[in-house]
Amino acid sequence: MQPNSPQLVTTIDELRKKLLEVRRAGRRIGLVPTMGALHEGHLSLVLASRESCDFTVVTIFVNPTQFGPDEDLDSYPRTLDADMRALARCGADLVFAPANSEVYLPGHQTWVEVDTVAKPLEGSCRPTHFRGVTTVVMKLFNMVGAEAAFFGQKDYQQALVIRRMADDLNVPTEIHICPIIREADGLAMSSRNAYLSSIAREQAVVLSKSLRLAEELVDRGELDAGQIIERMREVISAADLAKIQYITLADPQTLEPVEEISGETLAALAVVVEDTRLIDNCLLLPGK
Ligand code: PAF
Repeated sequence: MQPNSPQLVTTIDELRKKLLEVRRAGRRIGLVPTMGALHEGHLSLVLASRESCDFTVVTIFVNPTQFGPDEDLDSYPRTLDADMRALARCGADLVFAPANSEVYLPGHQTWVEVDTVAKPLEGSCRPTHFRGVTTVVMKLFNMVGAEAAFFGQKDYQQALVIRRMADDLNVPTEIHICPIIREADGLAMSSRNAYLSSIAREQAVVLSKSLRLAEELVDRGELDAGQIIERMREVISAADLAKIQYITLADPQTLEPVEEISGETLAALAVVVEDTRLIDNCLLLPGK
């Protein structure tokens, strides 16, 4: 049997009308914000929403304000038909896929900006990125008014920044962070993996390999962050197409770098493989 396709709406008016009915019926609304080009990672967020909510809204919007001037806004994959089919299979109820002009009015000049936690790592490589993310996510929160919203741990800093924003601005939506979904060889799923040539795809496995090595080293009692980063760097440098942007071991809440692993620690990295920028992370737990 053909699964039911979610309803597709493109305007804020239609979205609000539909969600008013849902709310009146006493149903709990879950929100999964995406930029489309959906993969199993996104679909796991939809499933998480379905587990704790009665009605799941997926937004598909390639948000121009989170791309830097030299980034891949124009080439970012746009695959609405395939996305709709995948969302039908996993039981999303409604898809909101607005045009740019629906989200950003002419003369738009209001920004939501999170301070310290948005500055290092991704913030230092992509200086205007988080301002675009927090602005659009706040807009989506206001448009949808969901009880809960679901984000992936793959974008660890993004999730932290959004949680900070939601706490600081008294957003009533619960923020859920769901585990990273990986390919069989360990590569974290990402819409940008589609850009990888076959040789770059083979080499991209060094990101997750370096994180597994960090976990093994910590399990074996290595607590010196410098040593661990050095060993991760060696793994990545073995791939000749890979260029490291950063590798950090940091406090998982403040993102301040640590010198010694004394409690739960974030290992995070950004690597350009051929022309594709990839990120990945894991939480290291000493004495596990
Ligand atoms: O993670 C993403 O896909 C985007 O940054 C988000 C949260 C949908 C905002 O555009």
